[in-house]
Amino acid sequence: MILVFLGAPGCGKGTIAKIFEEKLNFCHISTGDLIRNAISSNKELGEMLKQIISNGNLVSDEIVLKLLNEKLKDCSSNLILDGFPRNLLQAQKLDEMIKIDKVVYIDTPYDIIKERLVGRRTCENCGKVYNLDIYNSNTCSCGGKLVQREDDTPHIIEKRFKVYEKETMPLVQYYQNQGKLLKVESNSSSNDTFKSILNMLEVK
Ligand code: AP5
Ligand code: MG
Repeated sequence: MILVFLGAPGCGKGTIAKIFEEKLNFCHISTGDLIRNAISSNKELGEMLKQIISNGNLVSDEIVLKLLNEKLKDCSSNLILDGFPRNLLQAQKLDEMIKIDKVVYIDTPYDIIKERLVGRRTCENCGKVYNLDIYNSNTCSCGGKLVQREDDTPHIIEKRFKVYEKETMPLVQYYQNQGKLLKVESNSSSNDTFKSILNMLEVK
């Protein structure tokens, strides 16, 4: 099954995709993670990408598609795309590349998103994601240091949300027209949201 997780920054795309990965063996591809990995591994390209994402703008379609195509080679039939597509052109390109089964639209109000992103911490060592709301420590269970993402400041969160509304929101209608959209509210726990998605997908 090939799924797209669509939703605003902080709606829980990454957290829920990880649950699918752990419990159901899905291959999880986050284009945000691919870009952050490229920043750490490619000095020349990295500086330019860092400027773009720390300002809350979108990276060029060409670069994102290149990173995605490389990563797709590692994945087989059960796949979640998290953070891709993010605009109409990316959605059209994806339709030429792959047949998507369903698009899970995680609808979350802005005030919840803002709170979640300000409290998000990520392990420098293993990448595990936490929230200060429920985990008040600077150290991951693996012993790594928890850090805040550079784009998780109030000003950049607002910018990212505006970019989301302008560039990505039109995809809700795009996939609705294709009959692929499943909408889930994400104001409950991530495990409950996971269960609601499973029910909608009719996965036992
Ligand atoms: P990306 O990394 O994809 O960021 P994003 O879309 O802004 O989404 P986030 O990762 O911030 O949020 P999420 O929905 O994954 O939430 P999470 O599960 O972590 O992209 C970063 C940047 O890369 C972009 O701004 C852009 O520059 C570039 N980029 C990426 N893809 C691109 C593309 N296709 N084209 C162009 N540029 C691209 O959860 C957030 C927090 O909330 C966590 O602390 C978590 O613990 C907590 N939480 C989650 N769910 C719940 C819940 N149900 N209840 C309580 N807490 C919860
Ligand atoms: Mg994410």
